[in-house]
Amino acid sequence: MPDVTLKPRDRACTEQEWADITLRDGLRDTRGASGCAGRLAVGPQAGRRTMENGPMDTLDLTGTARAREQAVARMLACVRGIEQREGVSRASLEKIKQALIELSRRTELFPEAHFPPPTAGEDATLYGLSVDADNRHALYVYRPAPGKQTPPHNHTTWAIVVGIHGEEPTRVYERVTEDRATGRATLRVRDEFVVGPHTGAAYMPDDVHAIHIAGERAIMHLHLYGRSLLDLPERVNFDLARGTFSRPAGRPVVLKPVAA
Ligand SMILES: [Fe+2]
Repeated sequence: MPDVTLKPRDRACTEQEWADITLRDGLRDTRGASGCAGRLAVGPQAGRRTMENGPMDTLDLTGTARAREQAVARMLACVRGIEQREGVSRASLEKIKQALIELSRRTELFPEAHFPPPTAGEDATLYGLSVDADNRHALYVYRPAPGKQTPPHNHTTWAIVVGIHGEEPTRVYERVTEDRATGRATLRVRDEFVVGPHTGAAYMPDDVHAIHIAGERAIMHLHLYGRSLLDLPERVNFDLARGTFSRPAGRPVVLKPVAA
């Protein structure tokens, strides 16, 4: 049976919480409340398996995939505990970030073969690892290619980004002006930093940020959101040149990890 024990110094949860989160609890979390539901479905993509064809396969999981499932379930049990006790604040998101950093250190759980990078013509691949039955607590592996950049955007739910490998240069913005009636806004850069391996960034629901991937190969980062990326109808992208903001067209394609 895989060991998913974390070093005490790395733990974001209390000793008692970890003691309470048994392996059996983790499996129940994954298959019940937090199993990868078919609802993650979006359009098919170039012969890859997406979440639209049903729940995550459980019979063909490799040892690595099964160990990852268990580690993810334990991390999310910890996250739910933090959120229930403390709500959503910058302080509680820092604790949730630490829980995700702990998971990111298990690099053996995220082999390249299970999360193929984007191919020619794609700017990123996005793999769903878990989402609750009510669309909360959605965890993804995100693999943007060099050159991938996003406009400044919010998420309308809290978000944590933690690196496994590669760097994600990030700008955080603050609103200078905003008129929701006309869809006009001006922003200025409030902070700039790089999210690299086993470091992270935490965003409140209305924080605005943008990324621009450099380097020579697709990075691999963990993204944890308070709510599924497929269920964020109010999020907006900002157009710095035009001084406007609007809801993005389309929805992301969420792929299944290659488990067998
Ligand atoms: Fe984002």
